[in-house]
Amino acid sequence: MATHKLFLLPGDGIGPEVMAEVEKVAAFLTESGQARFEIEKGLVGGCAYDAHGQAISDADMARAQAADAVILAAVGGPKWDDVPYEVRPEAGLLRLRKDMALFANLRPAICYPALASSSSLKPEVIEGLDILIVRELTGGVYFGEPKQIIDLGNGQKRGIDTQVYDTFEIERIARVAFELARQRGNRVTSSEKRNVMKSGVLWNQTVTALHKRDYADVKLDHMLADALGMQLVRWPKQFDVIVTDNLFGDMLSDVAAMLTGSLGMLPSASLGETDVKTGTRKALYEPVHGSAPDIAGKGIANPIAMIASLAMALRYSFHKPDLAARIEAAISAVLDQGMRTADIAAKGEATVSTSAMGDAIVAEIRKAG
Ligand code: NAI
Ligand code: MG
Repeated sequence: MATHKLFLLPGDGIGPEVMAEVEKVAAFLTESGQARFEIEKGLVGGCAYDAHGQAISDADMARAQAADAVILAAVGGPKWDDVPYEVRPEAGLLRLRKDMALFANLRPAICYPALASSSSLKPEVIEGLDILIVRELTGGVYFGEPKQIIDLGNGQKRGIDTQVYDTFEIERIARVAFELARQRGNRVTSSEKRNVMKSGVLWNQTVTALHKRDYADVKLDHMLADALGMQLVRWPKQFDVIVTDNLFGDMLSDVAAMLTGSLGMLPSASLGETDVKTGTRKALYEPVHGSAPDIAGKGIANPIAMIASLAMALRYSFHKPDLAARIEAAISAVLDQGMRTADIAAKGEATVSTSAMGDAIVAEIRKAG
């Protein structure tokens, strides 16, 4: 059996608390012979700054590059609000994304049946929801040049950001979306604003051409980003895979996330280019939530987003979709049994600790295994 090298970065706040539950799951899968992990741990964020004055060290960066997958919890907190900009906790995350060239951000929005009634939308709108947003992560308006504030000299200033996309950037993110769609519902919705943006026209043309050339078996449609925002809230189940740029993806994935409820439930993956020689790709898996300083140290954080991030690693880095599905089914089962951490409990409902939730998920995986 292949050994999967995991590099764990627990980070700050609740990070180490939720990461401990991932370690439990990984240890169980190894013990029971369902997968074999080799685990190393490092520092990122405020804890790394405290240890050696950098948000991630060169040595840990090298270990991240050498791993089969990096699993990160969360960084930051009020303790580091005043550290210099270049070494602030988020700089560790940005360096990981940049040095590993992670251009594809995957954010699933899944509705667990037991939580359908806690959404702000009607249960019938989100029951059974399973969509995937693929966001371009290294280009677009967040990085395009020029990017500056100019003093116009007449008491006015001008703020400039530039949306730039080259064909290769659009093609490689669209390719990721088409490949993923083939493993799911075989449908892709590509989104931009070609009605008002030149980069949107190019996006639309490039995706259309790639589809015709290599992915004609996948159903493709196009939707303007503002309309897609409306449709996500009106009837999200019409989508399977959505592919869009960095800016629209940032907003639309947050909207999609909230369709299903708590931040504590949401995993994500960020993928790099596939190496043609080895067939492997750099990958970082992390929950969508932050370090939750308001509840850190109390043992009450929800570990589900973190554990679901390990499931994504099994699916997208280690080609073990069945094992990923087994973990996800275990999560669903403990929710069906009524287990709730505080963030997903209804008023008056009994709650469990972070480690009790982790234990229950391991017990369910054991039952299935
Ligand atoms: P946050 O996601 O840490 O917390 C927002 C709210 O959700 C809080 O009330 C928190 O208690 C709750 N929450 C989050 N995750 C939870 C979980 N697993 N279980 C139960 N409740 C949970 O976002 P916030 O408060 O805006 O940021 C706190 C710190 O985290 C800041 O320093 C921020 O910069 C950092 N951050 C880091 C991210 C990362 O590492 N990727 C992402 C977002 C924020
Ligand atoms: Mg965001």
